Amino acid sequence: MTSERPLQRIAVSFSELATCFNSEETKQEEAKRNLLVASFSSACSNVSVLFGCLGIAFKFAEMDYVAKVDDLTRVAKDMSTLESLIEYDLERDTVKVRGSHTRNLLRVKRGLDMVRVLFQGILDTKDESLRESASQAYAQVFAPYHSFPIRAAVAAGLYALPTRTQLMNKLNENESSARELMQEYITAVGPVLNYVEYLFTSRGLGIDW
Ligand SMILES: *[C@@H]1O[C@H](CO)[C@@H](O)[C@H](O)[C@H]1NC(C)=O
Repeated sequence: MTSERPLQRIAVSFSELATCFNSEETKQEEAKRNLLVASFSSACSNVSVLFGCLGIAFKFAEMDYVAKVDDLTRVAKDMSTLESLIEYDLERDTVKVRGSHTRNLLRVKRGLDMVRVLFQGILDTKDESLRESASQAYAQVFAPYHSFPIRAAVAAGLYALPTRTQLMNKLNENESSARELMQEYITAVGPVLNYVEYLFTSRGLGIDW
């Protein structure tokens, strides 16, 4: 584990990322245009630890997510903003090509969204088992895009999830500190997800692929 408090790291990095969406409108427009691939991918890389903590069920999601965040990190020096990254693929007509940066961005966005739904599920219940929250988050965000073998592997892995207490322990948090940080992430990631979605929908690219 790269951080003593990985959940805190996640919450703080997304709060920082979200600050560019909090300013007044004109400034916000400017800030959004300048959302750097580097700061985005750096915040996203903090989330990988969490997938690891969820055990075998999310092993595939973790590997997939890590590879795609790595790709964004690598291209950050050539394409500075999220907007320019998409424009790059649009110009080359490579948006939907397997392995394109734009496609990877969409996959990473989905990972962030899954974590958001999972955290909300954890906040909404006091269940010691995370199975319900995790399966719901998976079904809502990832399942429509995964093939049957992957869905089956995830379903089997849901029986090997850590318990709520085990997850908190792995993250070096307790119930109250974890709740606070999960809420912070949910609040901060909202505008970031909306913006990424907007980058796709405003160009007629859609997000269901
Ligand atoms: C929970 O963890 C936080 C952060 O480490 C700590 O400040 C707080 O005292 C802990 N609360 C309990 C009830 O252990």
